[in-house]
Amino acid sequence: MVVIPLISAPAMADENVEVMHWWTAGGEAAALNVLKENLEKQGVNWKDMPVAGGSGVSAMTALRARVTAGNPPTAVQMMGFNIKDWSAQDVLGNLNDVAEAEGWDNVVPPALQEFSKHDGNWIAAPVNVHSTNWVWISKKALDDAGGKAPTTWDELIAMLDTMKANGITPLAHGGQAWQDGTIFDSVVLSLGDDFYKDTMIDLKPEALGGDKMVEAFDRMAKLRSYVDDNFSGRDWNLATAMVINGEAGMQIMGDWAKGEFLQSKKVPGEDFVCIRFPSTQGAVTFNSDQFVMFDVKDGLAAQKKMASAVMDPNFQIAFNTVKGSVPARTDVSDEKFDDCGKKGMADLADAGKTGRLFGSMAHGHAVPDGIKSAIFDVVTAHFNGEFDSKTAAAELVDAVESAK
Ligand code: BGC
Repeated sequence: MVVIPLISAPAMADENVEVMHWWTAGGEAAALNVLKENLEKQGVNWKDMPVAGGSGVSAMTALRARVTAGNPPTAVQMMGFNIKDWSAQDVLGNLNDVAEAEGWDNVVPPALQEFSKHDGNWIAAPVNVHSTNWVWISKKALDDAGGKAPTTWDELIAMLDTMKANGITPLAHGGQAWQDGTIFDSVVLSLGDDFYKDTMIDLKPEALGGDKMVEAFDRMAKLRSYVDDNFSGRDWNLATAMVINGEAGMQIMGDWAKGEFLQSKKVPGEDFVCIRFPSTQGAVTFNSDQFVMFDVKDGLAAQKKMASAVMDPNFQIAFNTVKGSVPARTDVSDEKFDDCGKKGMADLADAGKTGRLFGSMAHGHAVPDGIKSAIFDVVTAHFNGEFDSKTAAAELVDAVESAK
């Protein structure tokens, strides 16, 4: 591991960062621009290396190719267990100097430090906290369906039925494994915190293959029945656009969806409504985007500036109010955040206190990548009708066992 020196180098034109990321949707790009402009003001040249593909699936493949070729990018957007995997390979820079000078230990919550540190050393700068157990509802579609947001599974189904009768696509969804997995996070959590923990974190075979899991798959199949026929392969932001333009009633998606509403100048409470997935209120399945610095030649001063810029409280506000996420720091005021952002911050703090904060399986914060992929395979096969719910639960046990 390479120690990044604390000497603050003056801004020089040859300070470069090549930043690999998957923030290519409108709201995402707008948020990233805040960081780019911030660094450019400090004399750091930004070389953009976008790899499109929700949840970073394609970016992580591209990264592997770059590292294998001996040419890693300077900084890479990364999440959860992927960070752990790369830190174990001794190819990352060490951010301890910046972290100590700026007191990161005191302001980054332990649930994030779990991924930002390796062997007690800071190896990543967390940008945000997202969470996956949200539903984004068109205000008009909600009003047309009676106006009361659903709080239980039965109310959710009743609302989806009414939206169908009202002639819109009730549920906007894109058929990609990670999007199916994102819904699965919420559905599993809606059957109880212990059930989420036993299955998605502790991987207990009896819970993975039990009756409750059959019920979870039944719920997935029910939700599938409210999705339009063209869902296969659709990008998540195009599904969000269906809610924005009134074609669909709601989307079950992480709070990056809010970034798309905001980019379209939509206002929470007026044009759209954010609720926690029914029966998951008070619990949060989180993921955090972090920037990992690779140990690259000539990168140190620029990397240090980037890490520091990411952790700047004002940046955390400017970025996260646009992105839909909430700050990775606990000492940032919610004043500048809209109602959904305020709720996101309050929910996160409460869930942390009550022990109801869980890593998102779908976004790499519950189990290592190989196990996540094994779960995705079963969830998607079932969503596409290849397995009935009982078979899916049995397949899940086997898939997880062989991926361990
Ligand atoms: C990331 C978000 C991103 C979303 C869609 C999630 O895994 O945390 O930052 O907007 O994927 O690509």
